[in-house]
Amino acid sequence: MIIAVDGPVAAGKGTLARRLAGALGLAYLDTGSIYRAVAAKILAAGGDPEDHGQAVETARGLDPADLARGDLRREDVGQAASKVAANQTVREALLDFQRRFARQPPGGEAGAVLDGRDIGTVVCPGAEVKFFLTASIEARAARRHKELLQRGEESIYARVLQDLRERDARDSGRTTAPMKAAEDALRLDTSEMDADQAFAAAMAEIANRRGPSGAG
Ligand code: CDP
Repeated sequence: MIIAVDGPVAAGKGTLARRLAGALGLAYLDTGSIYRAVAAKILAAGGDPEDHGQAVETARGLDPADLARGDLRREDVGQAASKVAANQTVREALLDFQRRFARQPPGGEAGAVLDGRDIGTVVCPGAEVKFFLTASIEARAARRHKELLQRGEESIYARVLQDLRERDARDSGRTTAPMKAAEDALRLDTSEMDADQAFAAAMAEIANRRGPSGAG
């Protein structure tokens, strides 16, 4: 079973996808961390994430161990990731890894939950269940701001809001695999939901799609 969780910055994808994977015994892949890892390596080398050749070379040479880098959640890495992610050759280079993970999870699980921007549309269009999470930009900025402060980082709300706007525009405006809901995705607006409510709504939908016997 493959579950796709897509949506914009800070819509709650990671929290939901991780909980679904735990509850259903599935593997979890945060595909954003792959783009973040490429971006972090380029920034650490003093490079430019918009340099085509460097981005492609870094993506092709990516090691799964790079996904555990300590700097992936930095805001500048997120911005650089969305620049790297607009590069079609980079996306192609990263596609196999994601599909292999979904089909044959490394821990031998019976399936996987992947979160990102194009899981339901491009990476796993055949996923059994697809969610597209949204939330107002203010709710998302407030969450990201709180997350940064909790991690002990400096954060200014207005700046976070501006960063989110830029990244959303880049992610939905790019020509390759733009962020958008798959036609068969269930849209969940989490503006007024906490993590427990989003999880309950998603589990109800999964039960619904699997049918009353729980099979399928
Ligand atoms: O966690 P957050 O919402 O900040 O973003 P993320 O999921 O870590 O993704 C970082 C960036 O990678 C996004 O802004 C996208 O540009 C890109 N990305 C993508 O293009 N396709 C994916 N499947 C996942 C992430």
